[in-house]
Formats: sequence, structure tokens, C-alpha cells
Amino acid sequence: MICFQESKLAGMTDPWEAREQQIVQSWNANAEPWAQAIQAGSIASRKLVTDAAIVNAVMSVQPQRVLDLGCGEGWLARSLAARGVTVIGVDAVPHLIAKATQFGHGEFHVQEYRAIAERRWHCDPVDAVVCNFSLLGGESVESMMGAVGGCLGASGHLIVQTLHPLAACGEHPYQDGWREGSWRGFGADFSDPAPWYFRTLESWLAMLRRNGFEVLECREPTAPGAFTPASLILMCRPR
Ligand SMILES: C[S@@+](CC[C@H](N)C(=O)[O-])C[C@H]1O[C@@H](n2cnc3c(N)ncnc32)[C@H](O)[C@@H]1O
Repeated sequence: MICFQESKLAGMTDPWEAREQQIVQSWNANAEPWAQAIQAGSIASRKLVTDAAIVNAVMSVQPQRVLDLGCGEGWLARSLAARGVTVIGVDAVPHLIAKATQFGHGEFHVQEYRAIAERRWHCDPVDAVVCNFSLLGGESVESMMGAVGGCLGASGHLIVQTLHPLAACGEHPYQDGWREGSWRGFGADFSDPAPWYFRTLESWLAMLRRNGFEVLECREPTAPGAFTPASLILMCRPR
């Protein structure tokens, strides 16, 4: 624990620095086209692989109550609710939360991860916290992960789906760092892509361990015939 505090503080700048805030600004700017893309099912990898993979991962821990962090327009909440799960969704973007609320099947709150990290927002304990492609920042994510355990009951799980580092690394060196964002393939309505923080697999595992989680299982959903996995799913529980 002492090591964690020391190592965390050693490299720490402001966890809510400009690039972290750009992420939220970008999602505010792109909320409507994003909601339309999700509702139209136009992101092929999601329809083919990753939507089912995250639903299966969450349902495999048989939760009654789930907290969906960075829930977007709420498709996952609706999908889990259809399976009898009570879902609380949180997202920084008012337009996405308005959409989620309008579609229903959950309780939705406009909150930034910062409010969770600083323990200004919390909910009654849930059986699972799920982050579906919603951990995009650097130190902001690390700060929030330090507080997420407080939302989980004793036998609760944290389930993270993210871009697979192997597939997302591209032509860059395989090391942690900020990467330029891009909406390539998403259409002309999208603008202002935000930077995002690349983590190696080793770094994802270390970050989760530093913040009090044991990684129980690592899944690599892959489309039939594909050479690289469509995503990485980390199934964790508080230590
Ligand atoms: C790629 S979208 C994923 C949305 C949803 N989980 C899904 O599967 O469709 C990333 C989401 O994370 C949210 N997000 C990113 N940074 C955030 C922050 N600091 N606080 C709250 N929400 C954040 C964005 O607003 C956006 O809705």
C-alpha cells in the first residue's frame, strides 16, 4: 500500500489536466452523432463482437445491480435491464444522459469521473461496475479507479472492456502514452477528436492492481477469421 501511494504520487501531474478535459469536450461535441451511430448499429465491431462480449461478461457474474460508468446513450443499461438487472448509468455528457433517460430502463446521472474520484458522488453498493470503452484518459482513470471499489459490495466485480493494446498500438512504440484521436470511419458528422491514453497490457494490469483490484480473468473477443482481437475484457474483483 505504501508503495502504491509513493509510486502514484511520484509521477502525478494534475489528473484533470487539459487533455483529460478535452476528452469530455469532444464527447459533448459528438454526443448526437454518437447516439445515432449506436442506435443505427453502424459500428461493425460492436455488432459483430464486442456488444455481446460485454453483455456475456457482465451476466457471467450474475449481478442484480450494475453501475455503468461512461454509459453513453445507455444501450448496455437497456440490454442488461432486459435480462433483469437494475442499472445505474453515469456519464459526463448531458445530451447522452438525456437520451439514456428518454429510452429508459435505468437510473442515469450526469457526473464526471472526477466526482467519483473525489468521492463527491457515490451510489449504494452494486454487484458489478462496468466500463465499456469508457476509460479513455490517463491519470483521471487512475484517480477514479482508486475510488471505484467503494461502489462495490464485498463480492462485487469490476469489468472493463477496452481497445486491445495489440490491435490499438498501430505504428507507435508499444508503450504507455497519449495518442491523437481520430474519427476515421465514423462519418462527416463527427468532429474534434480527443486524445486518448494508450496502455500496454502490462500497464492495464498494474494500474488495476495498484488500485486494489485482483484481475481474475482476461478475455480477448475476436471476430471470426480476424487476426487480432476486437477488444480486451478484464474481469476483476477488489482484493
Ligand atoms: C466510447 S463512449 C462509450 C459509451 C458507452 N459505454 C457505450 O458502450 O456505448 C465513451 C463514454 O465515456 C464517457 N466519458 C469519457 N470521459 C468521461 C469522464 N471523465 N467522466 C464521465 N464520462 C466520461 C463519454 O462521455 C462517453 O459517453
